[in-house]
Order: sequence, then C-alpha cells, then structure tokens
Amino acid sequence: MRARIIGTGYSLPAFRADNDYLATLVDTSDEWISERTGIRARHLAREETTLSMSADAARMALAKADFKAEDVELLIVATITGDMDTPSTACQVQKEIGAKNALAFDINAACSGFLYALHVAEAFIESGTYRNALLIGAETLSKVVDWTDRGTCVLFGDGAGAALVTASESGGLLAQSLGSSGEKWDVLFCEGRPNENPLREKGQKCGYLKMDGQEVFKFAVRTVPQCIEEALEKAGLKPEEIDLFILHQANKRIIQAVAKRLGMAEEEFPMNMDECGNTSAASLPILLAQLDERGRLRRGDRIVLSGFGAGLTWGACVLEW
Ligand code: ACO
Repeated sequence: MRARIIGTGYSLPAFRADNDYLATLVDTSDEWISERTGIRARHLAREETTLSMSADAARMALAKADFKAEDVELLIVATITGDMDTPSTACQVQKEIGAKNALAFDINAACSGFLYALHVAEAFIESGTYRNALLIGAETLSKVVDWTDRGTCVLFGDGAGAALVTASESGGLLAQSLGSSGEKWDVLFCEGRPNENPLREKGQKCGYLKMDGQEVFKFAVRTVPQCIEEALEKAGLKPEEIDLFILHQANKRIIQAVAKRLGMAEEEFPMNMDECGNTSAASLPILLAQLDERGRLRRGDRIVLSGFGAGLTWGACVLEW
C-alpha cells in the first residue's frame, strides 16, 4: 500500500503586510527585499494562532476529501512555533477538530517538517499500522523573529497547510530521500525562552531566530538538487518526466538555482513566496493546497516535493497525484 494525498487545505492570517509596511519598522525597501528574495508580502498573525490556523487548514483538507475527523488515525503537526511547549499542537488540533481516535504528536524539523511528517506517515501506512494520516505544517514565525533585525524579519510569514493521506493501491508516494546534519545546526537557530528559575542567573536574553543567510543559501543550492536527484533515481524517473517541482518557499533565487542545476525551466517550479514569504513547515502544504484549489494538480501528474531548513534538515519525495 502506498501513501496518497487525497485532500489539501490551508489557512493564512487576515493581515497582509507588504514590503512597504516592513520599511516602516526597519531600514529596508521593497526593492531590496523583492530583488534578493522574490518576497513582496507576507501574512502575519494578529488574532490567529498556530492552533487556529492548523485547525482551519485541517478542516479544509478533510472537507475536500469528504472525510470525517473521527476517522483520522494519525495526526501529525510539523511546527517550530507551537502556541505551547506542551501539550503538542497536534493534541490541541485533535480536540479542536474532533479527531478523537487519532494518535497525535508534533515533529520539529523546521522547513523540512512537512516532508518528515510525510515520511513518518508513509512508514506507518506501508506497514499497515494506520490506514490514514492528517498532516499539518503550521507556523507563527512572527513571534520568534527579531523585529529589529532587517536581515531576517523581512523573510518570514505565518500560516498553515494540511494534507490528508490515505493508503492506496495506485499512485501516491513513489520514492523519498531525506537527511539531517546536526554539524551545522548553528547556521540557523532560535534559542528557547529564558528560564527565570532561582538556580539560574537573571536577565538572560530572549531567544530570537538567527541565521547566517549565505551559509543557508550555499547549503540549499548544493543539497536540494542532490536529494531531488536521489529521490528521482529511486523512482526510476528523470527530471523531464516530472510535471511540477514544489519546493520550500524560502527564496526565489534558491529555486532558480535548483531549476538550473536540474536543467528544468523555472515555470515548472510554482511559487507563492511573493505573497506568503517563508512560512517554514507550512510552506509546502500551503503551496500544494493553493495549486490544488486552482486545479493545477491533475490525477496522474508526477510531482516532486522538496524542503530544506534548520537542523540542518532536508528532503525530497516523488509522488503521483
Ligand atoms: N534591507 C536592506 N538591506 C539589508 C537587508 C534588508 N532587509 N538585510 C540585509 N541588508 C544589508 C546588510 O546589512 C548588508 O549591508 P552592508 O553591505 O552594508 O553590510 C547587505 O544588505 C548585504 O547583506 P547580506 O546578508 O550579505 O545579503 P545577501 O546578499 O546574503 O542576502 C539573504 C541576504 C537574502 C538572506 C541571502 O543570504 C539569502 O537568500 N539566504 C538564504 C537564506 C534563506 O532563504 N533563509 C530563509 C530561512 S532558512 C530556510 O527556510 C531554509
């Protein structure tokens, strides 16, 4: 049995912050941000939470597949910005949508989180342990971004995406290639909140997201084509046999470099970072759901999904829609 996506959904905060709005907060410009990243706007949470967006995206995916929440057997949320340290976002979503029979837990793999969740779901589905899984990628990065650091705060956005996966005899996931390398964890990290217990010194700094942008760029353009090629080889396919390459939406220049390395046209790599920014674990399922909503995904299409991010972590999979 293969794992096949049968329903998708997404949720974005109501507030759309364009680059001009960010230029009122830090010394930046629409020209600098859009030329270097392809980002023109992002949605930022005012009222919304990681939980509320996760639940909205999940309900949309379930409705699209005409699937009852109580029939969900596995519920995984990929996030680095849950609203609480415990319980998991997945357990909160479980209550919110009524998925009372599911096993629920979170995965922390930053921008690769959705692919890691798909990897776990596939293993459970192939082994016959579960017949379906509801996978969510959700982030409220606006709460961990340093809004005085123009080098990072302009890159990120908030949102959630979801995909319902079921066991299928045809189509679905054909091959995957994932990896992690803790060696370079310090090129992109976010420290935890300070602990004010009586045993520790007071006045520790609050942790914000920190990044060595050029190191991340080099890592991405080297590793992403490699893992896509590995996944394609396992599937016995060539890049030209793929209909769409859906990549983590970090940066337009990274995607252009990957397309070039694979010898493919940029048009095969749909993008939404112009309107959503980088939403980390949410970026792949949001884009997938938007393409599904617009009728861009046809049954039988061969699709590559690929993510990369903090950890360092990365992954690619080949699937038949
Ligand atoms: N507006 C205006 N100027 C800026 C801004 C900004 N928002 N940010 C940085 N600058 C300035 C810097 O201060 C620096 O000025 P200086 O030359 O006077 O010192 C200059 O621009 C160049 O800064 P760099 O950091 O060297 O800029 P770079 O060309 O590397 O571009 C960027 C930065 C866009 C982040 C690039 O490194 C990149 O694309 N990295 C990939 C990282 C990425 O996508 N991360 C996303 C998160 S990770 C993930 O999702 C996998």
